[in-house]
This record gives sequence, structure tokens and C-alpha cells, in this order.
Amino acid sequence: MNYLEKKRAENAGHPRGFWGRKTLRAMNRHHDALTDWGLSFLTVNDGDRILDVGCGGGRTVKKLSRATTETVWGVDLSSAAIEEAFRANRRDIRRDKVIICKADVADLPFDEETFNVVTAVETIYFWPDLTAGLKEICRVMKGGGRLMLLTESRGDGEDAEKWAEVAKTAQMERLPSADGTAAALKEAGFVGIVAHVRGDFLCVTAEKPR
Ligand SMILES: C[S@@+](CC[C@H](N)C(=O)[O-])C[C@H]1O[C@@H](n2cnc3c(N)ncnc32)[C@H](O)[C@@H]1O
Repeated sequence: MNYLEKKRAENAGHPRGFWGRKTLRAMNRHHDALTDWGLSFLTVNDGDRILDVGCGGGRTVKKLSRATTETVWGVDLSSAAIEEAFRANRRDIRRDKVIICKADVADLPFDEETFNVVTAVETIYFWPDLTAGLKEICRVMKGGGRLMLLTESRGDGEDAEKWAEVAKTAQMERLPSADGTAAALKEAGFVGIVAHVRGDFLCVTAEKPR
């Protein structure tokens, strides 16, 4: 891992300061194709209210805000991420089409049954308790709502050894696997769980029961 890769890995899960901002902008670019791949498995209807958890630099929020006439929310733990997501979505924030706020997936500041769709891109690695985070997401979703969890690295893929080094530097809690993620979703109360794999990419979609 070279110096730049190390700095980016160190700031992936908890972006802060100069390197945090640089990393967030880089992630907005580098996660673009991954995000488009993941979103291809998700049904988004016009009028859906959407939440992106761990929104980072806000690129996914921007994509989602084009898919619905309703408000799209982005939440993240990091102040640097909130600043960058504001920058990326300035125009939509001015007209209340997008709202970005600081929050932990473990304690979301929303009422029960608020969202039709929830996305979480490249963030589940860092949640201290995956099942608890998923239960909290389930709480704020409407019955029949759709969830998409997306990651670019897997603990059960061919490159698991390479990712294990990144995971250590990035202080990840876990490298997701298709089976482990599906089990956590089931335990959190989701149904209709489907895992999609392409190389190291993993996208798991699920629904909240009606
Ligand atoms: C690798 S970045 C991905 C950002 C963005 N989703 C993307 O695809 O570019 C992971 C993000 O998850 C956020 N995060 C980590 N733990 C979190 C938690 N417990 N609750 C909310 N956000 C969290 C980090 O602050 C960071 O912005």
C-alpha cells in the first residue's frame, strides 16, 4: 500500500480533516460505477422517500434525488462527510429536495415507517453492531420498503487476503460476506433477501415485511 492508499484507507470509515475531505471526494468518484451497479438491483419509484446511510461525500444522495420527486435524506457520523455532502448537493438542499444531517446508524433521528427506500454504500464495514444497525434501519422503513447494502470488498471473495490488509488499516469491524450479511438481515427482521456478486462487489437487497 503506497502513502496515498494508506491515507485513504485510514480515512474511509471515519473521515476527518484534510485527508478526510480528500478521501471523501475520491470516494465520490471511485464508488460511482459500483453504486450504479448496486442501484440496478433496487426498485425506486417516483414519490419514494429515500434515506442513504453513511452518505459520505453525497454522490449517492445526488443520484437518488434524480429518481424521486420526494425528499432524499443523507446521514453520516462524520462532520467532514456532512460538509462534503452539502457541497455536492448544494442546489437540491436549497430547495429542500435533499436534507443532509449528522447521525449514527445505531440511533437514526426519524420516526418509525418514514422511508420507502434505504441505501447503505460502502459503510457496513464500519458499524460496530451490524444487526443493531439493520434493526434501526428496519424501524424507520415503511412496510414493503426496500433496502440495498453495497460493498466493493468481500471477506469471501478471491481477493480476501488483499482486503484483509485494507480492513486492518481502515479499522473495519468486518469484511462482509454474502451469507453473513444475509443472516444479519434475517435477524434484523428483513425478508426477500437476495445477494448479487460481481468479482469482489457484493450487493444485498431486502424488504421490510408489509
Ligand atoms: C467508505 S465511506 C463511504 C461513503 C459513501 N457512502 C460512498 O459510497 O462514497 C464510509 C462512510 O460511512 C460513515 N459511517 C461509518 N460508521 C457510521 C455509522 N455508525 N453511522 C453512520 N455513518 C457511518 C463514515 O463516516 C463514512 O463517511
